[in-house]
Amino acid sequence: MYMVNVAILGFGTVGSGVAEVMEENAVSIAHNALEDIRVKRIVDIRDIEDGHFSKMQTKDFSVVENDPDIKIVVETIGGVGVAYDYTKRSLLAGKSVVTSNKELVAKHGHELLSIAKEKNVNYLFEASVGGGIPIIRPITQCLTANELDEVYGILNGTTNYILTRMVQGNVSFEEVLHEAQRLGYAEADPTADVDGHDAARKICILADLCFGKSVDPDRISVQGIRGVTAEDVEYARRLGYKIKLLGRAYRLDEEHITAYVAPHLISKTSLLSNVDGVMNGIVVHGNALGEAMFYGAGAGKRPTASAVVADVIDAAKHMLARKYLGWDESEPDYVVDAADIRMRWYVRTGSGLEEIGRAFGNVRLISYPGEYPGAGPDEYAFATEPITGRELQKRLSGMEVRSLFRILG
Ligand code: HSE
Repeated sequence: MYMVNVAILGFGTVGSGVAEVMEENAVSIAHNALEDIRVKRIVDIRDIEDGHFSKMQTKDFSVVENDPDIKIVVETIGGVGVAYDYTKRSLLAGKSVVTSNKELVAKHGHELLSIAKEKNVNYLFEASVGGGIPIIRPITQCLTANELDEVYGILNGTTNYILTRMVQGNVSFEEVLHEAQRLGYAEADPTADVDGHDAARKICILADLCFGKSVDPDRISVQGIRGVTAEDVEYARRLGYKIKLLGRAYRLDEEHITAYVAPHLISKTSLLSNVDGVMNGIVVHGNALGEAMFYGAGAGKRPTASAVVADVIDAAKHMLARKYLGWDESEPDYVVDAADIRMRWYVRTGSGLEEIGRAFGNVRLISYPGEYPGAGPDEYAFATEPITGRELQKRLSGMEVRSLFRILG
């Protein structure tokens, strides 16, 4: 059998998982790829402890760049600095690149895919969204008969884990966050998870693929979960809802879409409400399909490695046949601000009943003062009728707003 040589750039959680899975499953991988595939080099600036893998280590990327026998490069460095430079140089050197790096794909996917096209190689990123869940291939292959009009879901394992533990009760936000980091779900810098940026990158990649034009993660509205309190979780429960961080993108008309990330109250009867812990769930809506949900392990070393290695196998099988993946540049007004979209809202305020009445008329109250330990004397939570975020802000001006979340369904 022919031997396909692979280099791994970045031997962190995902990179080491990729090396392990490739060694452990070498026989079935060779069977599936119809070629032997092996890791020839690992690039990392930190010393690799493991004796077996340390033999493959180099700290110099140009060793990989200049090795014509290395046909596939796995980029698991993360970020948009060195990872961007090495990815570009690998593609320009005629090597296919496989990655789990959602930030790089979301920010520079259009350019990197164009270089891959020019060089007739592949740039594959199944692991960048939903960890081990197949979602990029379903969208770009299995669902191409559809006009896709909506994609949304729970796209971040760390925050879903934290919210799930908050629902179960008795665990502080910090404790759960440390637990998630120990388990390898959270990024080294958890702000990207907790403040919604990780989910933003993922929903932008999904929107790029579903709707065919580039959506910049730095230009969509992003709200994380820091503001979700135990009270909100309890009040949502009374309404028959759970609080979940969703990334959502949908088509408004031929020329416009909207995309955003925010905590939502979602009905306990919806499929997504049972997506708990580190699991992710992604719903895609198409005009022929109706709805499909993709569910599974959305983060973690081995689930992510599972998707990366599958891309390596795919790249090995398509050495001379580029897979069609890509999207166009978008016009400046392509993405409509999420604040202009009508939704129902959950509001928790310390401003008292009279002010609520003046701003919103009769509303459905969810809580009364003093019901929740620690809630002040004027605290009320209520649900609004459908209203744009912009209009909501106007009505709330001058009021003391404690929490504000969208209601879905
Ligand atoms: N930190 C990410 C998460 C890892 O928690 O979902 C997977 O992208």
